[in-house]
Amino acid sequence: MPVERTLVMVKPDGVRRGLVGEIISRFERKGFRIAGLKMLKMSRELAEKFYSVHKGKPFFDALIEFITSGPVVAMVIEGDSAVKVARLMIGSTDGREALPGTIRGDYALSKTENVVHASDSVESANYEIGLLFSKEELM
Ligand code: CMP
Repeated sequence: MPVERTLVMVKPDGVRRGLVGEIISRFERKGFRIAGLKMLKMSRELAEKFYSVHKGKPFFDALIEFITSGPVVAMVIEGDSAVKVARLMIGSTDGREALPGTIRGDYALSKTENVVHASDSVESANYEIGLLFSKEELM
């Protein structure tokens, strides 16, 4: 029962569609603590660092274009098995395949514009949190 922190990000489509409150609320109601929260518009440089593991893949340019297209809301959530549980809560990458009841299953119909991101491992979480939050911004 490891207490972990993970990075959850409402993507530009989720912000544009007014889903920020709904998404934060789901993590709070699940029992997670919000340890950090901010709205920002990613620069191309930051986006390329954030998604560096996908560099060279066919969808990389479209992904960077999309994630820099408007503000995102990034949050650090903390709790038991946060990395795994947050991934279960957001659902499969492709909104058309994500199960109803998951965030993408309920709100997404696309693989690129899929409303929300959550770190896929403890290592990714540490990297992504470090890119978006300073120590002083985490409570
Ligand atoms: P995310 O969880 O933010 O992690 C990487 C993102 O790349 C993913 O969500 C999708 O939005 C996008 N992505 C992953 N695979 C593909 C793909 N095959 N085609 C288009 N976009 C993809």
